[in-house]
Amino acid sequence: MYKIIQKKALNPTVTLMEVDAPLVARKAEPGQFIILRASEDGERIPLTIAGYDREKGTVTIIFQIVGGATETLNALNEGDFIHDFVGPLGKATETEGLKKVAVVGGGVGCAIAYPVAKKLHDIGVEVHSIVGFRNEDLIILEDEFKAVSDKYVLMTDDGSAGEKGLVTNALEKLIESGEEYDEVITIGPLIMMKFVVGVTKKYNVKTVVSMNPIMVDGTGMCGGCRLTVGGQTKFACVDGPDFDGFEVDFDEAMARSATYKPFEQKAREEACN
Ligand code: FES
Repeated sequence: MYKIIQKKALNPTVTLMEVDAPLVARKAEPGQFIILRASEDGERIPLTIAGYDREKGTVTIIFQIVGGATETLNALNEGDFIHDFVGPLGKATETEGLKKVAVVGGGVGCAIAYPVAKKLHDIGVEVHSIVGFRNEDLIILEDEFKAVSDKYVLMTDDGSAGEKGLVTNALEKLIESGEEYDEVITIGPLIMMKFVVGVTKKYNVKTVVSMNPIMVDGTGMCGGCRLTVGGQTKFACVDGPDFDGFEVDFDEAMARSATYKPFEQKAREEACN
């Protein structure tokens, strides 16, 4: 059993939990994920590690309430216990040899992008963070990103905070202005990552994408996270979640992930009733 040390609503549908899990905290690296079950008979939820404190022995997760299982998790409070909390799983985001990186996050994907930006900053990489949200009410981790970024660009679809526009507009503007990145790391909705890759391909900037959003149970068995990378079949939870963005077949991944939407909605309605 894993105690919830801290619980915080980051926006109306996104929650942060700091969980007492010393063994996971000891080995966790940015880009990796955990699988949890809120209760004994609960559904497995794979969640990317949003932070860890090796000394305190805690791991931070940030999740969006999208289905029945996340609704059940969100019903737990500080002092309550999560039944299973297994990890770290998946491959850590590679950071070796990088000197200047643009980290591009969208929506709740920023929860995954933040620990990557922090790790890069901690090892001396120049970090430009470009984050995008639909509107100002949905902004998360603003202070945290600012603290680890040499440049921080906030974009909102409606212009209610930061600049009006998409992260791709900001990224292209920076590249056009002469910024040269060793790599762009992007994490967010599939459609956003597809368009980020559209920009970086144009300028031939290596791009790493996190395919965490298509993971279902994270065990390598459900097949839900199957995707095509460079013409080969891969599984996000086993082979990733990070992949070379130029090689990912985003259209196929988006079509596959759309098939799970009605199930998530139904599970959410059942959990709320
Ligand atoms: Fe089920 Fe990868 S999430 S196989």
